[in-house]
Amino acid sequence: MRIAMIGTGYVGLVSGACFSEFGVDVVCVDKDEGKIARLLDGVMPIFEPGLDKLVETIVRAGRLRFSTNLKESVAGADAVFIAVGTPSRRGDGHADLSFVYAVAREIADALTGYAVIVTKSTVPVGTGKEVGRIIREARPDAQFDMVSNPEFLREGSAINDFMRPDRVVIGTASDRAKEIMRNLYRPLYLIETPIVFTALETSELTKYAANTFLATKITFINEIADLCEQLGCDVQDVAKGIGLDGRIGRKFLHAGPGYGGSCFPKDTLALVRTAQEAGSPLKIVETVVEVNDARKKQMAKRVIQALGGSAKGKTVAVLGVTFKPNTDDMRDSPSLDIIPALQEAGATVRAFDPEGMTEAKKLLDGVIWCDTTYECMGGADVVVIITEWNEFRALDLDRVKKLLRQPIIVDLRNVYDPQTLAAAGFTYISIGRPSAAA
Ligand code: UDX
Repeated sequence: MRIAMIGTGYVGLVSGACFSEFGVDVVCVDKDEGKIARLLDGVMPIFEPGLDKLVETIVRAGRLRFSTNLKESVAGADAVFIAVGTPSRRGDGHADLSFVYAVAREIADALTGYAVIVTKSTVPVGTGKEVGRIIREARPDAQFDMVSNPEFLREGSAINDFMRPDRVVIGTASDRAKEIMRNLYRPLYLIETPIVFTALETSELTKYAANTFLATKITFINEIADLCEQLGCDVQDVAKGIGLDGRIGRKFLHAGPGYGGSCFPKDTLALVRTAQEAGSPLKIVETVVEVNDARKKQMAKRVIQALGGSAKGKTVAVLGVTFKPNTDDMRDSPSLDIIPALQEAGATVRAFDPEGMTEAKKLLDGVIWCDTTYECMGGADVVVIITEWNEFRALDLDRVKKLLRQPIIVDLRNVYDPQTLAAAGFTYISIGRPSAAA
């Protein structure tokens, strides 16, 4: 089996590496020569735990190659995966498909024999069909079938998500394509991974529905957290109390500063637009988008309140700026709303993140970037935990207290137990739980 993976972003690189770990002969293709040169030197373009080691091993074994030459890589491949970016189009929130369609034209030019063309990028309903049309128009003689095979990889645990998925979704009308896809995923047979075969369009919609549902679940618990604060209840207990109901499930019920990242914000918005245009609006999702946007902006107010109503002349120590731990990804991170709002309110912001600072420096101005967690807290009036990296979960509280001007912690991820923090002499503000004062 030979596959060409077009696009060495998050999805392409992880999927390409994992397929080749399964024993498939994979070539990962990208236009960016610098990126390919760095990959050939073993330098990963993203931080993903375990990826560098995996890539090194399979490159050495000769099963994974990198190339800038799409034509050579596609020729003779059994399957060609399209894994290029589909960012939100400026202005209207629709997914920008120009990269997908450009790649489709190049693939058309490169096809030599029968191949399945697989969209792995998250693409709106109808995109696979359009890719097929583009290829057929350019190469009426080409032999191929279209497949939609969406990814469900979480950043930070993408390799595990690929190797041990809850399910694989494959959308195609062709039995021949089905067989090739079944063969590609055969290694998952051992762990009895369910494969959902469906139509191309249904598979495309399934991906959006999955991400949108998860974003809705998070937003629901975030609003319940706000209500808990008004009623003196504890959202962690509510989440446990409802999550243990098998119909609801415990995952994605962790209240926080609002969801971010490369998928949820973009995919919710794109589905809202698709539904509006189809004349079947998704009112729930429209509200989710609105509530989440507002939530990220409101978070700075909590910090200002903790400072007694004004941040003027105060120093805020921010721990964690990425949208979640174990990634260097800053896309739509709540920190991009919180930090500028604090600065606007007159605060000086010091910040530390284990992996995200290189990216963050490009997006945030006027922040004092620190080398360590404890250096960041030196002389600050308040600590704000925005991302729950492991190293922020077991802080030396005595040391923190000595470093701070005032012992105040605003924990937007509920990492700590309010009673323990109060007993240690902190004013501790978290999400959806009764505040504890020293
Ligand atoms: C997501 C999907 O989970 C994955 O299946 C998809 O294909 C890509 O998008 P990812 O964006 O990497 O993955 O991160 P995820 O772990 O899903 O978290 C997304 C956001 O939701 C983060 O900002 C996270 O902090 C937030 N979140 C998640 C919560 O606030 N509470 C939760 O309970 C779970």
